[in-house]
Amino acid sequence: MLMQAVILVGGEGTRLRPLTYGTPKPMVPIMNVPFLARTMERLYEAGIREAILAAGYMPQAIVDYFGDGASLGMKVTYAIEETPLGTAGALKNVEEHITGAFFVLNGDIFTSLDLRAMLQYHKEKGGAGVLHLIRVEDPSAFGCVVHDESGRISAFVEKPPKDEAPTDEVNAGTYLLEREILEYIPAARAVSIERETFPDIIARGKQLYAYTTNDYWIDVGRPEQYLAAHRDVLSGAMPLAVEPGISGEGADALRGHPGVVPPVHAGPDVVVDASATIGPNLVLGAGCSIGADAAVKDSVLWDRVSVGAGAIIEEAIVASGATIGAHARVPRGSVIGHDVEIEPGTALEPGARVGAPQRGAPS
Ligand code: GDD
Ligand code: MG
Repeated sequence: MLMQAVILVGGEGTRLRPLTYGTPKPMVPIMNVPFLARTMERLYEAGIREAILAAGYMPQAIVDYFGDGASLGMKVTYAIEETPLGTAGALKNVEEHITGAFFVLNGDIFTSLDLRAMLQYHKEKGGAGVLHLIRVEDPSAFGCVVHDESGRISAFVEKPPKDEAPTDEVNAGTYLLEREILEYIPAARAVSIERETFPDIIARGKQLYAYTTNDYWIDVGRPEQYLAAHRDVLSGAMPLAVEPGISGEGADALRGHPGVVPPVHAGPDVVVDASATIGPNLVLGAGCSIGADAAVKDSVLWDRVSVGAGAIIEEAIVASGATIGAHARVPRGSVIGHDVEIEPGTALEPGARVGAPQRGAPS
């Protein structure tokens, strides 16, 4: 069955700044591949051949990478919002392209959800749509979804205060909707699907069903979650085709290196000094270099990051082209932006975010 998927990729990714000053959130790499490319692969595997990308923030980076989709064997269409239309307004905006029931994916969800099984569930249940749900410990950062035993949804409460959450089952950011849903979204203004459209549909007596699974699931929109996603791929908790131990195009250069503590994943042309210690839980992008006696673990370094002699990096994310000076300390929770230079000997505070908007980038 040929279905369409709309992927919501218009958010500014504020919680990932300064990374998202230079790279829009959907293009942030997971295991050295843009996150959105992983999502596209998942669609392809589910037999979906058409994706409509609802973009707005830094769309050019997305268009440049995917083009018309032919290299993926897919058709990719773009709808670029001048001003953000919200998560439902973005769907209304692509109404002319939608031909039938369609998937909607939040663009920052990393999951092993089986889309075919979800489609099957929708066929069994009927109704106006199905929402994928997962259970979380703290629902206050998500949309709480209340439903009865048959799965029928009776309430949708976006980001309730912690002690007021009606359930631990939350909106996992994948929907399968009938085209009629678009009729309930007002045109030409920003509309939130979570705060307006879902409650409205329920109030109209339309049937929306919950599809709760215990798949691997994470929203990579925050630094801690982004690091956790990498840890989970490296440990095998999130199934992705990655060899255990030392993996990636640059793996051969690291095998036999005495300072490598697996799991480590490395892109091509990585250079690690013989006296450096790297890993565990480390991902190195293409062309990274690690100097003498440096120690780097539990971190994700994008392409061409240079780490000076004796520098220490822990639980950090470092964007492309950044330089970490000799003997600098980049501790837990640090996020370093594109091309930033950390001076030799600098000791950053835990959770430091270093990097400013780039010239010409939207503010
Ligand atoms: N095109 C477009 N236009 N996309 C948008 C817009 C917009 O105006 N606003 C947000 N998006 C995209 C974001 O890029 C992201 O991929 C997705 O919509 C969700 O936005 P987030 O800003 O990441 O929302 P959230 O994580 O706080 O909450 C949402 O996701 C949770 C699951 O992770 C909600 O859907 C919650 O109900 C849900 O639990
Ligand atoms: Mg999100």
